[in-house]
Amino acid sequence: MKHNALFIGIVAVIVAACATSKPVADNEIGLSKTSVFDDPSPAVFDYPKTEPSAATALPRSWNSAPPQIPHKTEAFEPITANKNLCITCHDKPGLIGKKTKGIPTSMPESHYDTIEGKMVRNNGRHICTQCHTPQANVADLVGNTFKTDQ
Ligand code: HEC
Ligand code: HEC
Repeated sequence: MKHNALFIGIVAVIVAACATSKPVADNEIGLSKTSVFDDPSPAVFDYPKTEPSAATALPRSWNSAPPQIPHKTEAFEPITANKNLCITCHDKPGLIGKKTKGIPTSMPESHYDTIEGKMVRNNGRHICTQCHTPQANVADLVGNTFKTDQ
């Protein structure tokens, strides 16, 4: 009984709210202040041409976020089942956790499995660019106030 009264109350409030609210203009539905009928083309941009040898690590967005790639990647893609150039530089289990300037950081322990006492690359992480992406200096499409605390 108590629940029925509460339900009727909520419905009444919603109906009242709908009856008094104005229709929403089609350019105010989303964060982008353009009409939903527009087909906007974002400005074309290029990724920096930084060679790996000249790259320095970028700030992490938050603790345990996948680090962004600070160098160009065109020459290392596509990553296929039989070809992954990223691992030629970053698959160095002996160097896990050791950062040396100019030397590619090894993939961390989370990227390996231990099978019969041996560290083996985790195949679920084969497509590196699923999580790690190069960065370009592009203005945000929609402003935001996020700041890294790292
Ligand atoms: C020729 C060697 C080389 C290749 C190939 C290469 N990298 Fe790198 N990478 C580097 C070097 C050198 C750095 C800069 C030093 C560092 O921070 O690891 C770096 C940095 C990174 C970082 C930042 C690490 C951090 O701690 O912030 C990521 C992520 C990364 N590379 C991912 C990739 C991916 C994904 C690919 C394949 C698309 C790739 N790399 C191919 C050499 C290479
Ligand atoms: C499923 C997402 C995912 C995939 C796929 C992935 N990574 Fe990562 N990677 C992460 C995350 C998250 C971190 C940071 C947290 C951690 O250490 O696990 C990281 C960290 C790293 C680091 C920095 C290590 C350090 O000690 O600072 C390197 C280098 C790296 N990954 C390279 C690679 C390469 C090369 C591949 C492809 C073979 C790859 N990753 C695939 C999510 C991923």
